[in-house]
Amino acid sequence: MTILVTGGAGYIGSHFVRHLERKKIDFVIADNFSTGHKKLVKNKKFVELDLRDPKEISVNLQDLDITSIVHFAGLSIVSDSQKMKKEYYENNVLASMNLAKFALEKKIRKFIYSSSAAVYGIPEDIPIKENHPTRPINNYGKNKLEVENLLKDLSMEFPLDVVCLRYFNAAGADDNGDLGEEHNPETHLIPNVINSALNSSEFTVNGDTYKTNDGTCIRDYVHVNDLASAHLLSLNFLDFNKGFHIFNLGSEKGFSVMEVINECQKLMKTEIKVRIGEKREGDPDILIADNTKSVSKLNWKLEKNTLRTIISSAIDYHKNAL
Ligand code: UFG
Repeated sequence: MTILVTGGAGYIGSHFVRHLERKKIDFVIADNFSTGHKKLVKNKKFVELDLRDPKEISVNLQDLDITSIVHFAGLSIVSDSQKMKKEYYENNVLASMNLAKFALEKKIRKFIYSSSAAVYGIPEDIPIKENHPTRPINNYGKNKLEVENLLKDLSMEFPLDVVCLRYFNAAGADDNGDLGEEHNPETHLIPNVINSALNSSEFTVNGDTYKTNDGTCIRDYVHVNDLASAHLLSLNFLDFNKGFHIFNLGSEKGFSVMEVINECQKLMKTEIKVRIGEKREGDPDILIADNTKSVSKLNWKLEKNTLRTIISSAIDYHKNAL
């Protein structure tokens, strides 16, 4: 059994690879290193390829004994998706189509797809269940939904079984201290707050007039190791459940931007200089998952499910990376 892990040199993909290593499960990583890091595939089985090119996929992967696919690869900065629509469509939608076609050709039945809470858009109800209407408000969320729909169609016509995992806010880092969140540029809240604390630089809160207790946005942060474990559970789930399935991956707990900043200040024993900036376009006031389905059907267990654990693991990684 060899699992193909696309985007295995990226943030969530590399944590899934670590999970497989700990379980002694065979894998091969495919990455083009456009946003992933070469250092993360050192001493691991990997192929460098661009999923936008179907020929590159078949040439590089056809002789590998791939039994399932976990597809993380893609571009994921929401604001960039608005400016670079074509690039996002090619990397997120067309590349996924090519990969799905390869799966059909090679009769690889099991396909796990990294989707996002961005497919929901502005939620009508909190917590958000999987059957909540999907009305994405940015190109990134639209791309994710387009791929979900494509996979759903394929699963109805061909022997392909699919799990789409809708991530809420992935955060934190592996306990080993050598894997963590490292985007360039970094746009995410927790790494940006930590960097401000470490560099004594000002941190900008993107608006404080949202409909929440302190006016700052509330998000559902889920530890990246817990996200990783859900992918293997999803592969196991497909052994007994054919067809197309969607699961939310969130913690069911919401924290505001100010609560995250306060927790960081406490853990780092430092005061962070905070400035209130403009609202960021397309930020919903509150996003919190209902994870009942993942917990009951995948048997998903959140093992690092406190804000303190999530943030302190991220702090350890950032200190290590300095
Ligand atoms: N924020 C700040 N300052 C910063 C960075 C973030 O105030 O420097 C705020 C954001 O405006 C938002 C909250 O912190 O209110 C969380 O922002 P992130 O950028 O960390 O995460 P998002 O909720 O915007 O995005 C995440 C994923 C996306 C996914 C989206 C789904 O990173 O991939 O959830 O809604 F699309």
